[in-house]
Amino acid sequence: MDDKTFFVWSDTMNTGIMEIDDQHKMLVGILNRLFHAVVQRENNEITIEILDTLVDYTKTHFGLEEKLLQDAGYNPTEFAAHQQEHRAFIEKISNAANKHLVEGKSVSFEIINFLKHWLQEHILITDKKYAEALKSAGYCSKDWTNFANNAMANKQQTTPKQKHWWKLW
Ligand SMILES: [Fe+2]
Repeated sequence: MDDKTFFVWSDTMNTGIMEIDDQHKMLVGILNRLFHAVVQRENNEITIEILDTLVDYTKTHFGLEEKLLQDAGYNPTEFAAHQQEHRAFIEKISNAANKHLVEGKSVSFEIINFLKHWLQEHILITDKKYAEALKSAGYCSKDWTNFANNAMANKQQTTPKQKHWWKLW
């Protein structure tokens, strides 16, 4: 396994909602970038930048996904459980980023593998579950799509300092 094949996107992970799939692919890209940085023992500054990007992008993505579920009137119990999974994941990556930044601890393969498997499982099970529910309820994501596109465009304008993940390569 090399850094290009650490986390390979599989079409089985598609939810059928284009913006969500694009954002999931971005997250996979950031995790691959993090893996590469750790394998290559790249300097601290770049690793911090990748971790920042990962935390920031994950928060944005989860926020938009939760907005989609609320918009679609998704089952409240399922929504709460889904949101709880998101919170636990954000805590995990924030802790890893803090440990690296504050305590100078290197990012372990164990944590990167954990993040990869968590994301894979979350997309394949939890995200696909809501995608199916939305589909069978006949929900049309057009309004949410506009909202998501505006949110992403605004974000790029308001956070010009943050490099896009692909510029980290
Ligand atoms: Fe999710």
